[in-house]
Amino acid sequence: MHISNRLNSLKPSATVAFTEKARTLKQAGHDLIVLAAGEPDFAPPRHVREAVAREAFEGVTRYGPTPGSLEAREALVEYLERTKGLHVSANQVIFSNGAKQALFNALAALIDPGDEVIVLAPYWVTYTAQVELLGGIGRIVVGESSRGFKVTPEQIREALTPKTRCIIFNNPSNPSGAFYTADEVRELTEICVGAECAIVSDEVYDMIIYEGGPYLSPAVVSDKAGELTAVVGGFSKTYAMPGWRIGYLAGPEPWIKKVIAFQGQATHHPSALSQAAALAAMTGDQQVVEEMRQEFRKRRDFLLDAISGIPGLSVEVPPQGAFYLLVGVTELVEALPDADGSNDVSLWLLEEAKVALVPGDVFGAEGFVRVSYAASMEDLERAVQRLEEAVGKLGL
Ligand SMILES: Cc1ncc(COP(=O)(O)O)c(C=O)c1O
Repeated sequence: MHISNRLNSLKPSATVAFTEKARTLKQAGHDLIVLAAGEPDFAPPRHVREAVAREAFEGVTRYGPTPGSLEAREALVEYLERTKGLHVSANQVIFSNGAKQALFNALAALIDPGDEVIVLAPYWVTYTAQVELLGGIGRIVVGESSRGFKVTPEQIREALTPKTRCIIFNNPSNPSGAFYTADEVRELTEICVGAECAIVSDEVYDMIIYEGGPYLSPAVVSDKAGELTAVVGGFSKTYAMPGWRIGYLAGPEPWIKKVIAFQGQATHHPSALSQAAALAAMTGDQQVVEEMRQEFRKRRDFLLDAISGIPGLSVEVPPQGAFYLLVGVTELVEALPDADGSNDVSLWLLEEAKVALVPGDVFGAEGFVRVSYAASMEDLERAVQRLEEAVGKLGL
């Protein structure tokens, strides 16, 4: 059977593969602590679960509009206004099967083979994979750890070429937890707008910020920025419902119109049950979001303190948002015989400490491993103890 060149060169998501591998080992009886996945360990809010149950019994079981029900879209319009000051109409939003599909849709509407997309490293693995799947070329701009894993305006100016179609901006960032302040967002946005470069702004962690706020979306920097920016958002992180696969895209009408046509042919609307969940999440009590944020912050503070105390591991940049921490492991790479990079360190930690952490190379962050602290405090404490014991044996 012939497999297309496009899919032949596509690699499975490294984080998904790594998490799956760790889970399989755990299910087979291995005593592993898995700090690899980017999914909250909380249950979705009770009122959201109740809304899904109600929808299942009394709600829509037929096909609906491709971008999602009008009721859900109108709630999203109000939510975006309330949370980000973004003014859009119901024709400018579309629900998809998670932020991941929203991102793919947004890029599919922009990229022709050979087009360039600016991707800021460290980056979420999916960005480069989706750009390449569409025949685009990812132009990686590295946010050095010495600059808090953030890129400078100068770097963006240099990366822009006549072939640049868009930039993917992710604030706060997976995997680094770096957070761009409102002033920084304004400056980067104005550079892009000046170059007529579209912005795909991945804002799935917008509600999980610890310091450095307030949050500013590039879409609200100016009218012109609004005409060039599509916001990717979701419910997996903010409302702890990753398995229900619901996210959205909000942007200029001509862009969204093409995305609706594309999704209509590719997958149609996301499940009506998930739309009901999103509707309840947006319109219900938001206290639960704050409670989760506080809990993540407690875990971050614990990890920062505990990991900095382990010789051989380093934390150069305390994360200001999301629920990830990049831990520097260059000393371990040097200390371990035959270790070539962060991938070998991850495998060694899996073997020796029985802790699963994703190697940084998959995020364009060689020399680091990513710890997800979307895990219970108990697991984090046990993981730190194991890391301390395993790394301690190296006598660093
Ligand atoms: C930066 C970023 N964007 C988007 C997503 C996708 O979220 P969803 O579950 O809504 O597809 C993730 C999930 O890990 C993420 O880390």
